[in-house]
Amino acid sequence: RERLKELLGRGAAAVGATVVVAGWVRTLREAMKGATLFVELNDGSCLASIQVVCGSDSTEGFAAAKACGGAGASLRVEGAVVESPGKGQTIEILAKAITVLGCTRGGPGRTVGAQTYPLAKKYHTLEHLRTHAHLRPRSRVGSAVVRLRNALAFATHEFFQQRGFLYVHTPLITAADCEGAGEQFTVTTLLPPEHDKAPKLPTVDGRVDYSKDFFGRQASLTVSGQLNVETHAVSLADCYTFGPTFRAENSNTSRHLAEFWMIEPEVSFATLADDIALAEDYLKYCVAAALCRCADDLEFFEGSKNEGLRDRLKAIVETPFKRLEYTEAISVLQKEMKAGRAKFENTDVTWGIDLDSEHERYLTEKVYKGPVVLINYPKDIKAFYMKLNADGKTVAAMDILVPRIGEIIGGSQREDSLEVLEERAKSVGLNPEDIKWYGELRQYGSVPHAGFGLGFERLVMLCSGVENIRDVIPFPRTPGNCRF
Ligand code: 4AD
Ligand code: MG
Repeated sequence: RERLKELLGRGAAAVGATVVVAGWVRTLREAMKGATLFVELNDGSCLASIQVVCGSDSTEGFAAAKACGGAGASLRVEGAVVESPGKGQTIEILAKAITVLGCTRGGPGRTVGAQTYPLAKKYHTLEHLRTHAHLRPRSRVGSAVVRLRNALAFATHEFFQQRGFLYVHTPLITAADCEGAGEQFTVTTLLPPEHDKAPKLPTVDGRVDYSKDFFGRQASLTVSGQLNVETHAVSLADCYTFGPTFRAENSNTSRHLAEFWMIEPEVSFATLADDIALAEDYLKYCVAAALCRCADDLEFFEGSKNEGLRDRLKAIVETPFKRLEYTEAISVLQKEMKAGRAKFENTDVTWGIDLDSEHERYLTEKVYKGPVVLINYPKDIKAFYMKLNADGKTVAAMDILVPRIGEIIGGSQREDSLEVLEERAKSVGLNPEDIKWYGELRQYGSVPHAGFGLGFERLVMLCSGVENIRDVIPFPRTPGNCRF
């Protein structure tokens, strides 16, 4: 079997070859009073389909193909590649033999017929496709997203491997709440009945007694692999982790998921400036990889109500990112509000607030017209592990904001002083016992180190222009949604 990506890539050079292809029917059309079939077949390897022409006299299996039900059916085709007289395609296949692997069946009566195939029509809204997540990769947009995700994941490994980083596998079940935001999904599993017959975890003085739980303590799904990858960075210098993370934030927005993938590099002997440089290089590398390796898919996304997408992406690759102090950002936003240019839902823009996405987007879309690296945030709105600056008020944190999305990367230099770290942990109410091991990384050969986390789905949104995060992950998990 030849993949369509390769076959179509060969173009006119493939004319004369006998090939075998297999895939799913996008459309099936009868002509010549039913004596000819035109089938658009796609195998997911690329956006384009190939036209397969079948004749009642020339194609073995013609009758079965005619009765396959049309869109959605799966076929194996053997035939000769010929030049196509049709517009927008160089080659097509004259089918010598067709095998129907699976026809498209109807509903309860199961009469053959494409009319019940949920993706039979050519155009579906993203909302409709979401309700068919199990068939969504058959749609053009669904498959383009998967190919883009694949290219970006590959580019991620390529980027870090080329720079000598080690890929570290951090756990998904954890005891630590890295971000301290209390947004963890708890993992509660009772030991098998021979150990404990109680249907529920027992309570002591009204509080759950986790000692009877599987792990003998409260455990959660990780919100970030950072604390674990730090242990390796302070032993092996340049590391990264790339895996799923989970957040039980009850925010029904177009940029939040309960389960998302995160890339988290962590580097020893590095400062905030090094961290920012790495993040900028990495983001640019990924965007350039998408432009170059997913050219057809990006052209398709651009054509789906996303004018100028590729030019915007090229500008991201070619233009240095603006660096901006948090304090400066607040005063810029205040000035814009005062001048009547900026109208925000949240008008409380004062030093100390955590910026909302409307503020982040305003800075990137209206003021700087491109990505912005925001640095040195107030310590009270950031996690305990970030390095305290000399002013005692801000931390060496950085967020990278991009147009249409807002925050895509969050990172910082880490606190390397044991005393300051302990103080900060105490002030946010962390149990010292819980982070004892983390403190020990500062006790034995502490080094300046820094890292960041990039939300993979937000990167896919950036490169595709797709506006809702639910449409860039195969099986989105959001409040109330865990079907499929
Ligand atoms: O800013 P965050 O919370 O940073 C961390 O988790 C750090 N521990 C990372 C590090 O320094 N190693 O999250 C990092 C990024 C955000 O910038 C955003 O792109 C993405 O993760 N993100 C989400 N993406 C989708 N859905 C959510 N609910 C997200 N929360 C964060
Ligand atoms: Mg953040």
